[in-house]
Amino acid sequence: MPLSAPTRGPATVELRGVSRTFGHGAAAHHVITGIDLTLAAGEIVAVLGPSGSGKSTLLRLVAGLDTPTSGTVLVDGDPVRDLDRGAAVVFQDARLMAWRTLASNVAFGLPAGTPRAERRAEVARWLEVVGLGGFARHRPSQVSGGMAQRAALARALVRRPGALLLDEPFAALDALTRLRMQDLLVEVHGAAPTTVLLVTHDADEALQLADRIVLLSAGPAASVTAVIDVPPPRPRERGDLRLAPLRADLLHRLGVGHSPDSHAPVPHTSPAVPHKEPLG
Ligand SMILES: Nc1ncnc2c1ncn2[C@@H]1O[C@H](COP(=O)(O)OP(=O)(O)OP(=O)(O)O)[C@@H](O)[C@H]1O
Ligand SMILES: [Mg+2]
Repeated sequence: MPLSAPTRGPATVELRGVSRTFGHGAAAHHVITGIDLTLAAGEIVAVLGPSGSGKSTLLRLVAGLDTPTSGTVLVDGDPVRDLDRGAAVVFQDARLMAWRTLASNVAFGLPAGTPRAERRAEVARWLEVVGLGGFARHRPSQVSGGMAQRAALARALVRRPGALLLDEPFAALDALTRLRMQDLLVEVHGAAPTTVLLVTHDADEALQLADRIVLLSAGPAASVTAVIDVPPPRPRERGDLRLAPLRADLLHRLGVGHSPDSHAPVPHTSPAVPHKEPLG
């Protein structure tokens, strides 16, 4: 993979007592409360929780797209104030500009004032990395949903973000494309490390990608109910037997499937309150 050294290293992301309430008084809607979480530089952390638990709200706070009602979000020790320049976000939909080529969309991720030659080289590099080398001049309407999402990933990566914030980035893709995108993320992360916060509703995706999985309780006033370590190194084989007990534990905590075998306690799991809400 033709990658040069990143200009900015992976960031440390810290949430200290973060809460977000929408509305006031009797109409106040407490979405998340008292979230404490630290992402080490280069770590991939997945956030898993029921629909409406506040996963996107949490990610928006880290991105600087929203402000906590109380508590602080720190990136490399500095409070996030507005859209954090060290972070890049990919959403469930690619959000490309329809009238621009894929190359031009990716170039949009670069800071204004990037010299033209560097711009072209960086865009070509990242399109290549995500497997779109031959599609630079295509428009979003001329490529598949998976390709559009890869362009969105390239647009995020071209910024060399210290933190890559992903809000269900592969959820709208077909099953096979989703698996390929997961593999691509592992490959890219291995070659150009960044700190990744991955919001997902897919337990297998979290197990495939994350160093740690953070479980949110159902809202309102969602909080962290468990943080689960996923020790096998990446890239991980799908069906890796070491993931099976973690998967059973995870699904159990999410209120799906049977209890894990009481004779085979799950390793690397912090104490937590299980909850029963279905996934969204
Ligand atoms: N700007 C806002 N104003 C008022 N309420 C909001 C706002 N943004 C989010 N909410 C509320 O916060 C709650 C959590 O929403 P959020 O989108 O963070 O959930 P989620 O976990 O990402 O759900 P999903 O899995 O369906 O994407 C919801 O009840 C939502 O209505
Ligand atoms: Mg969401």
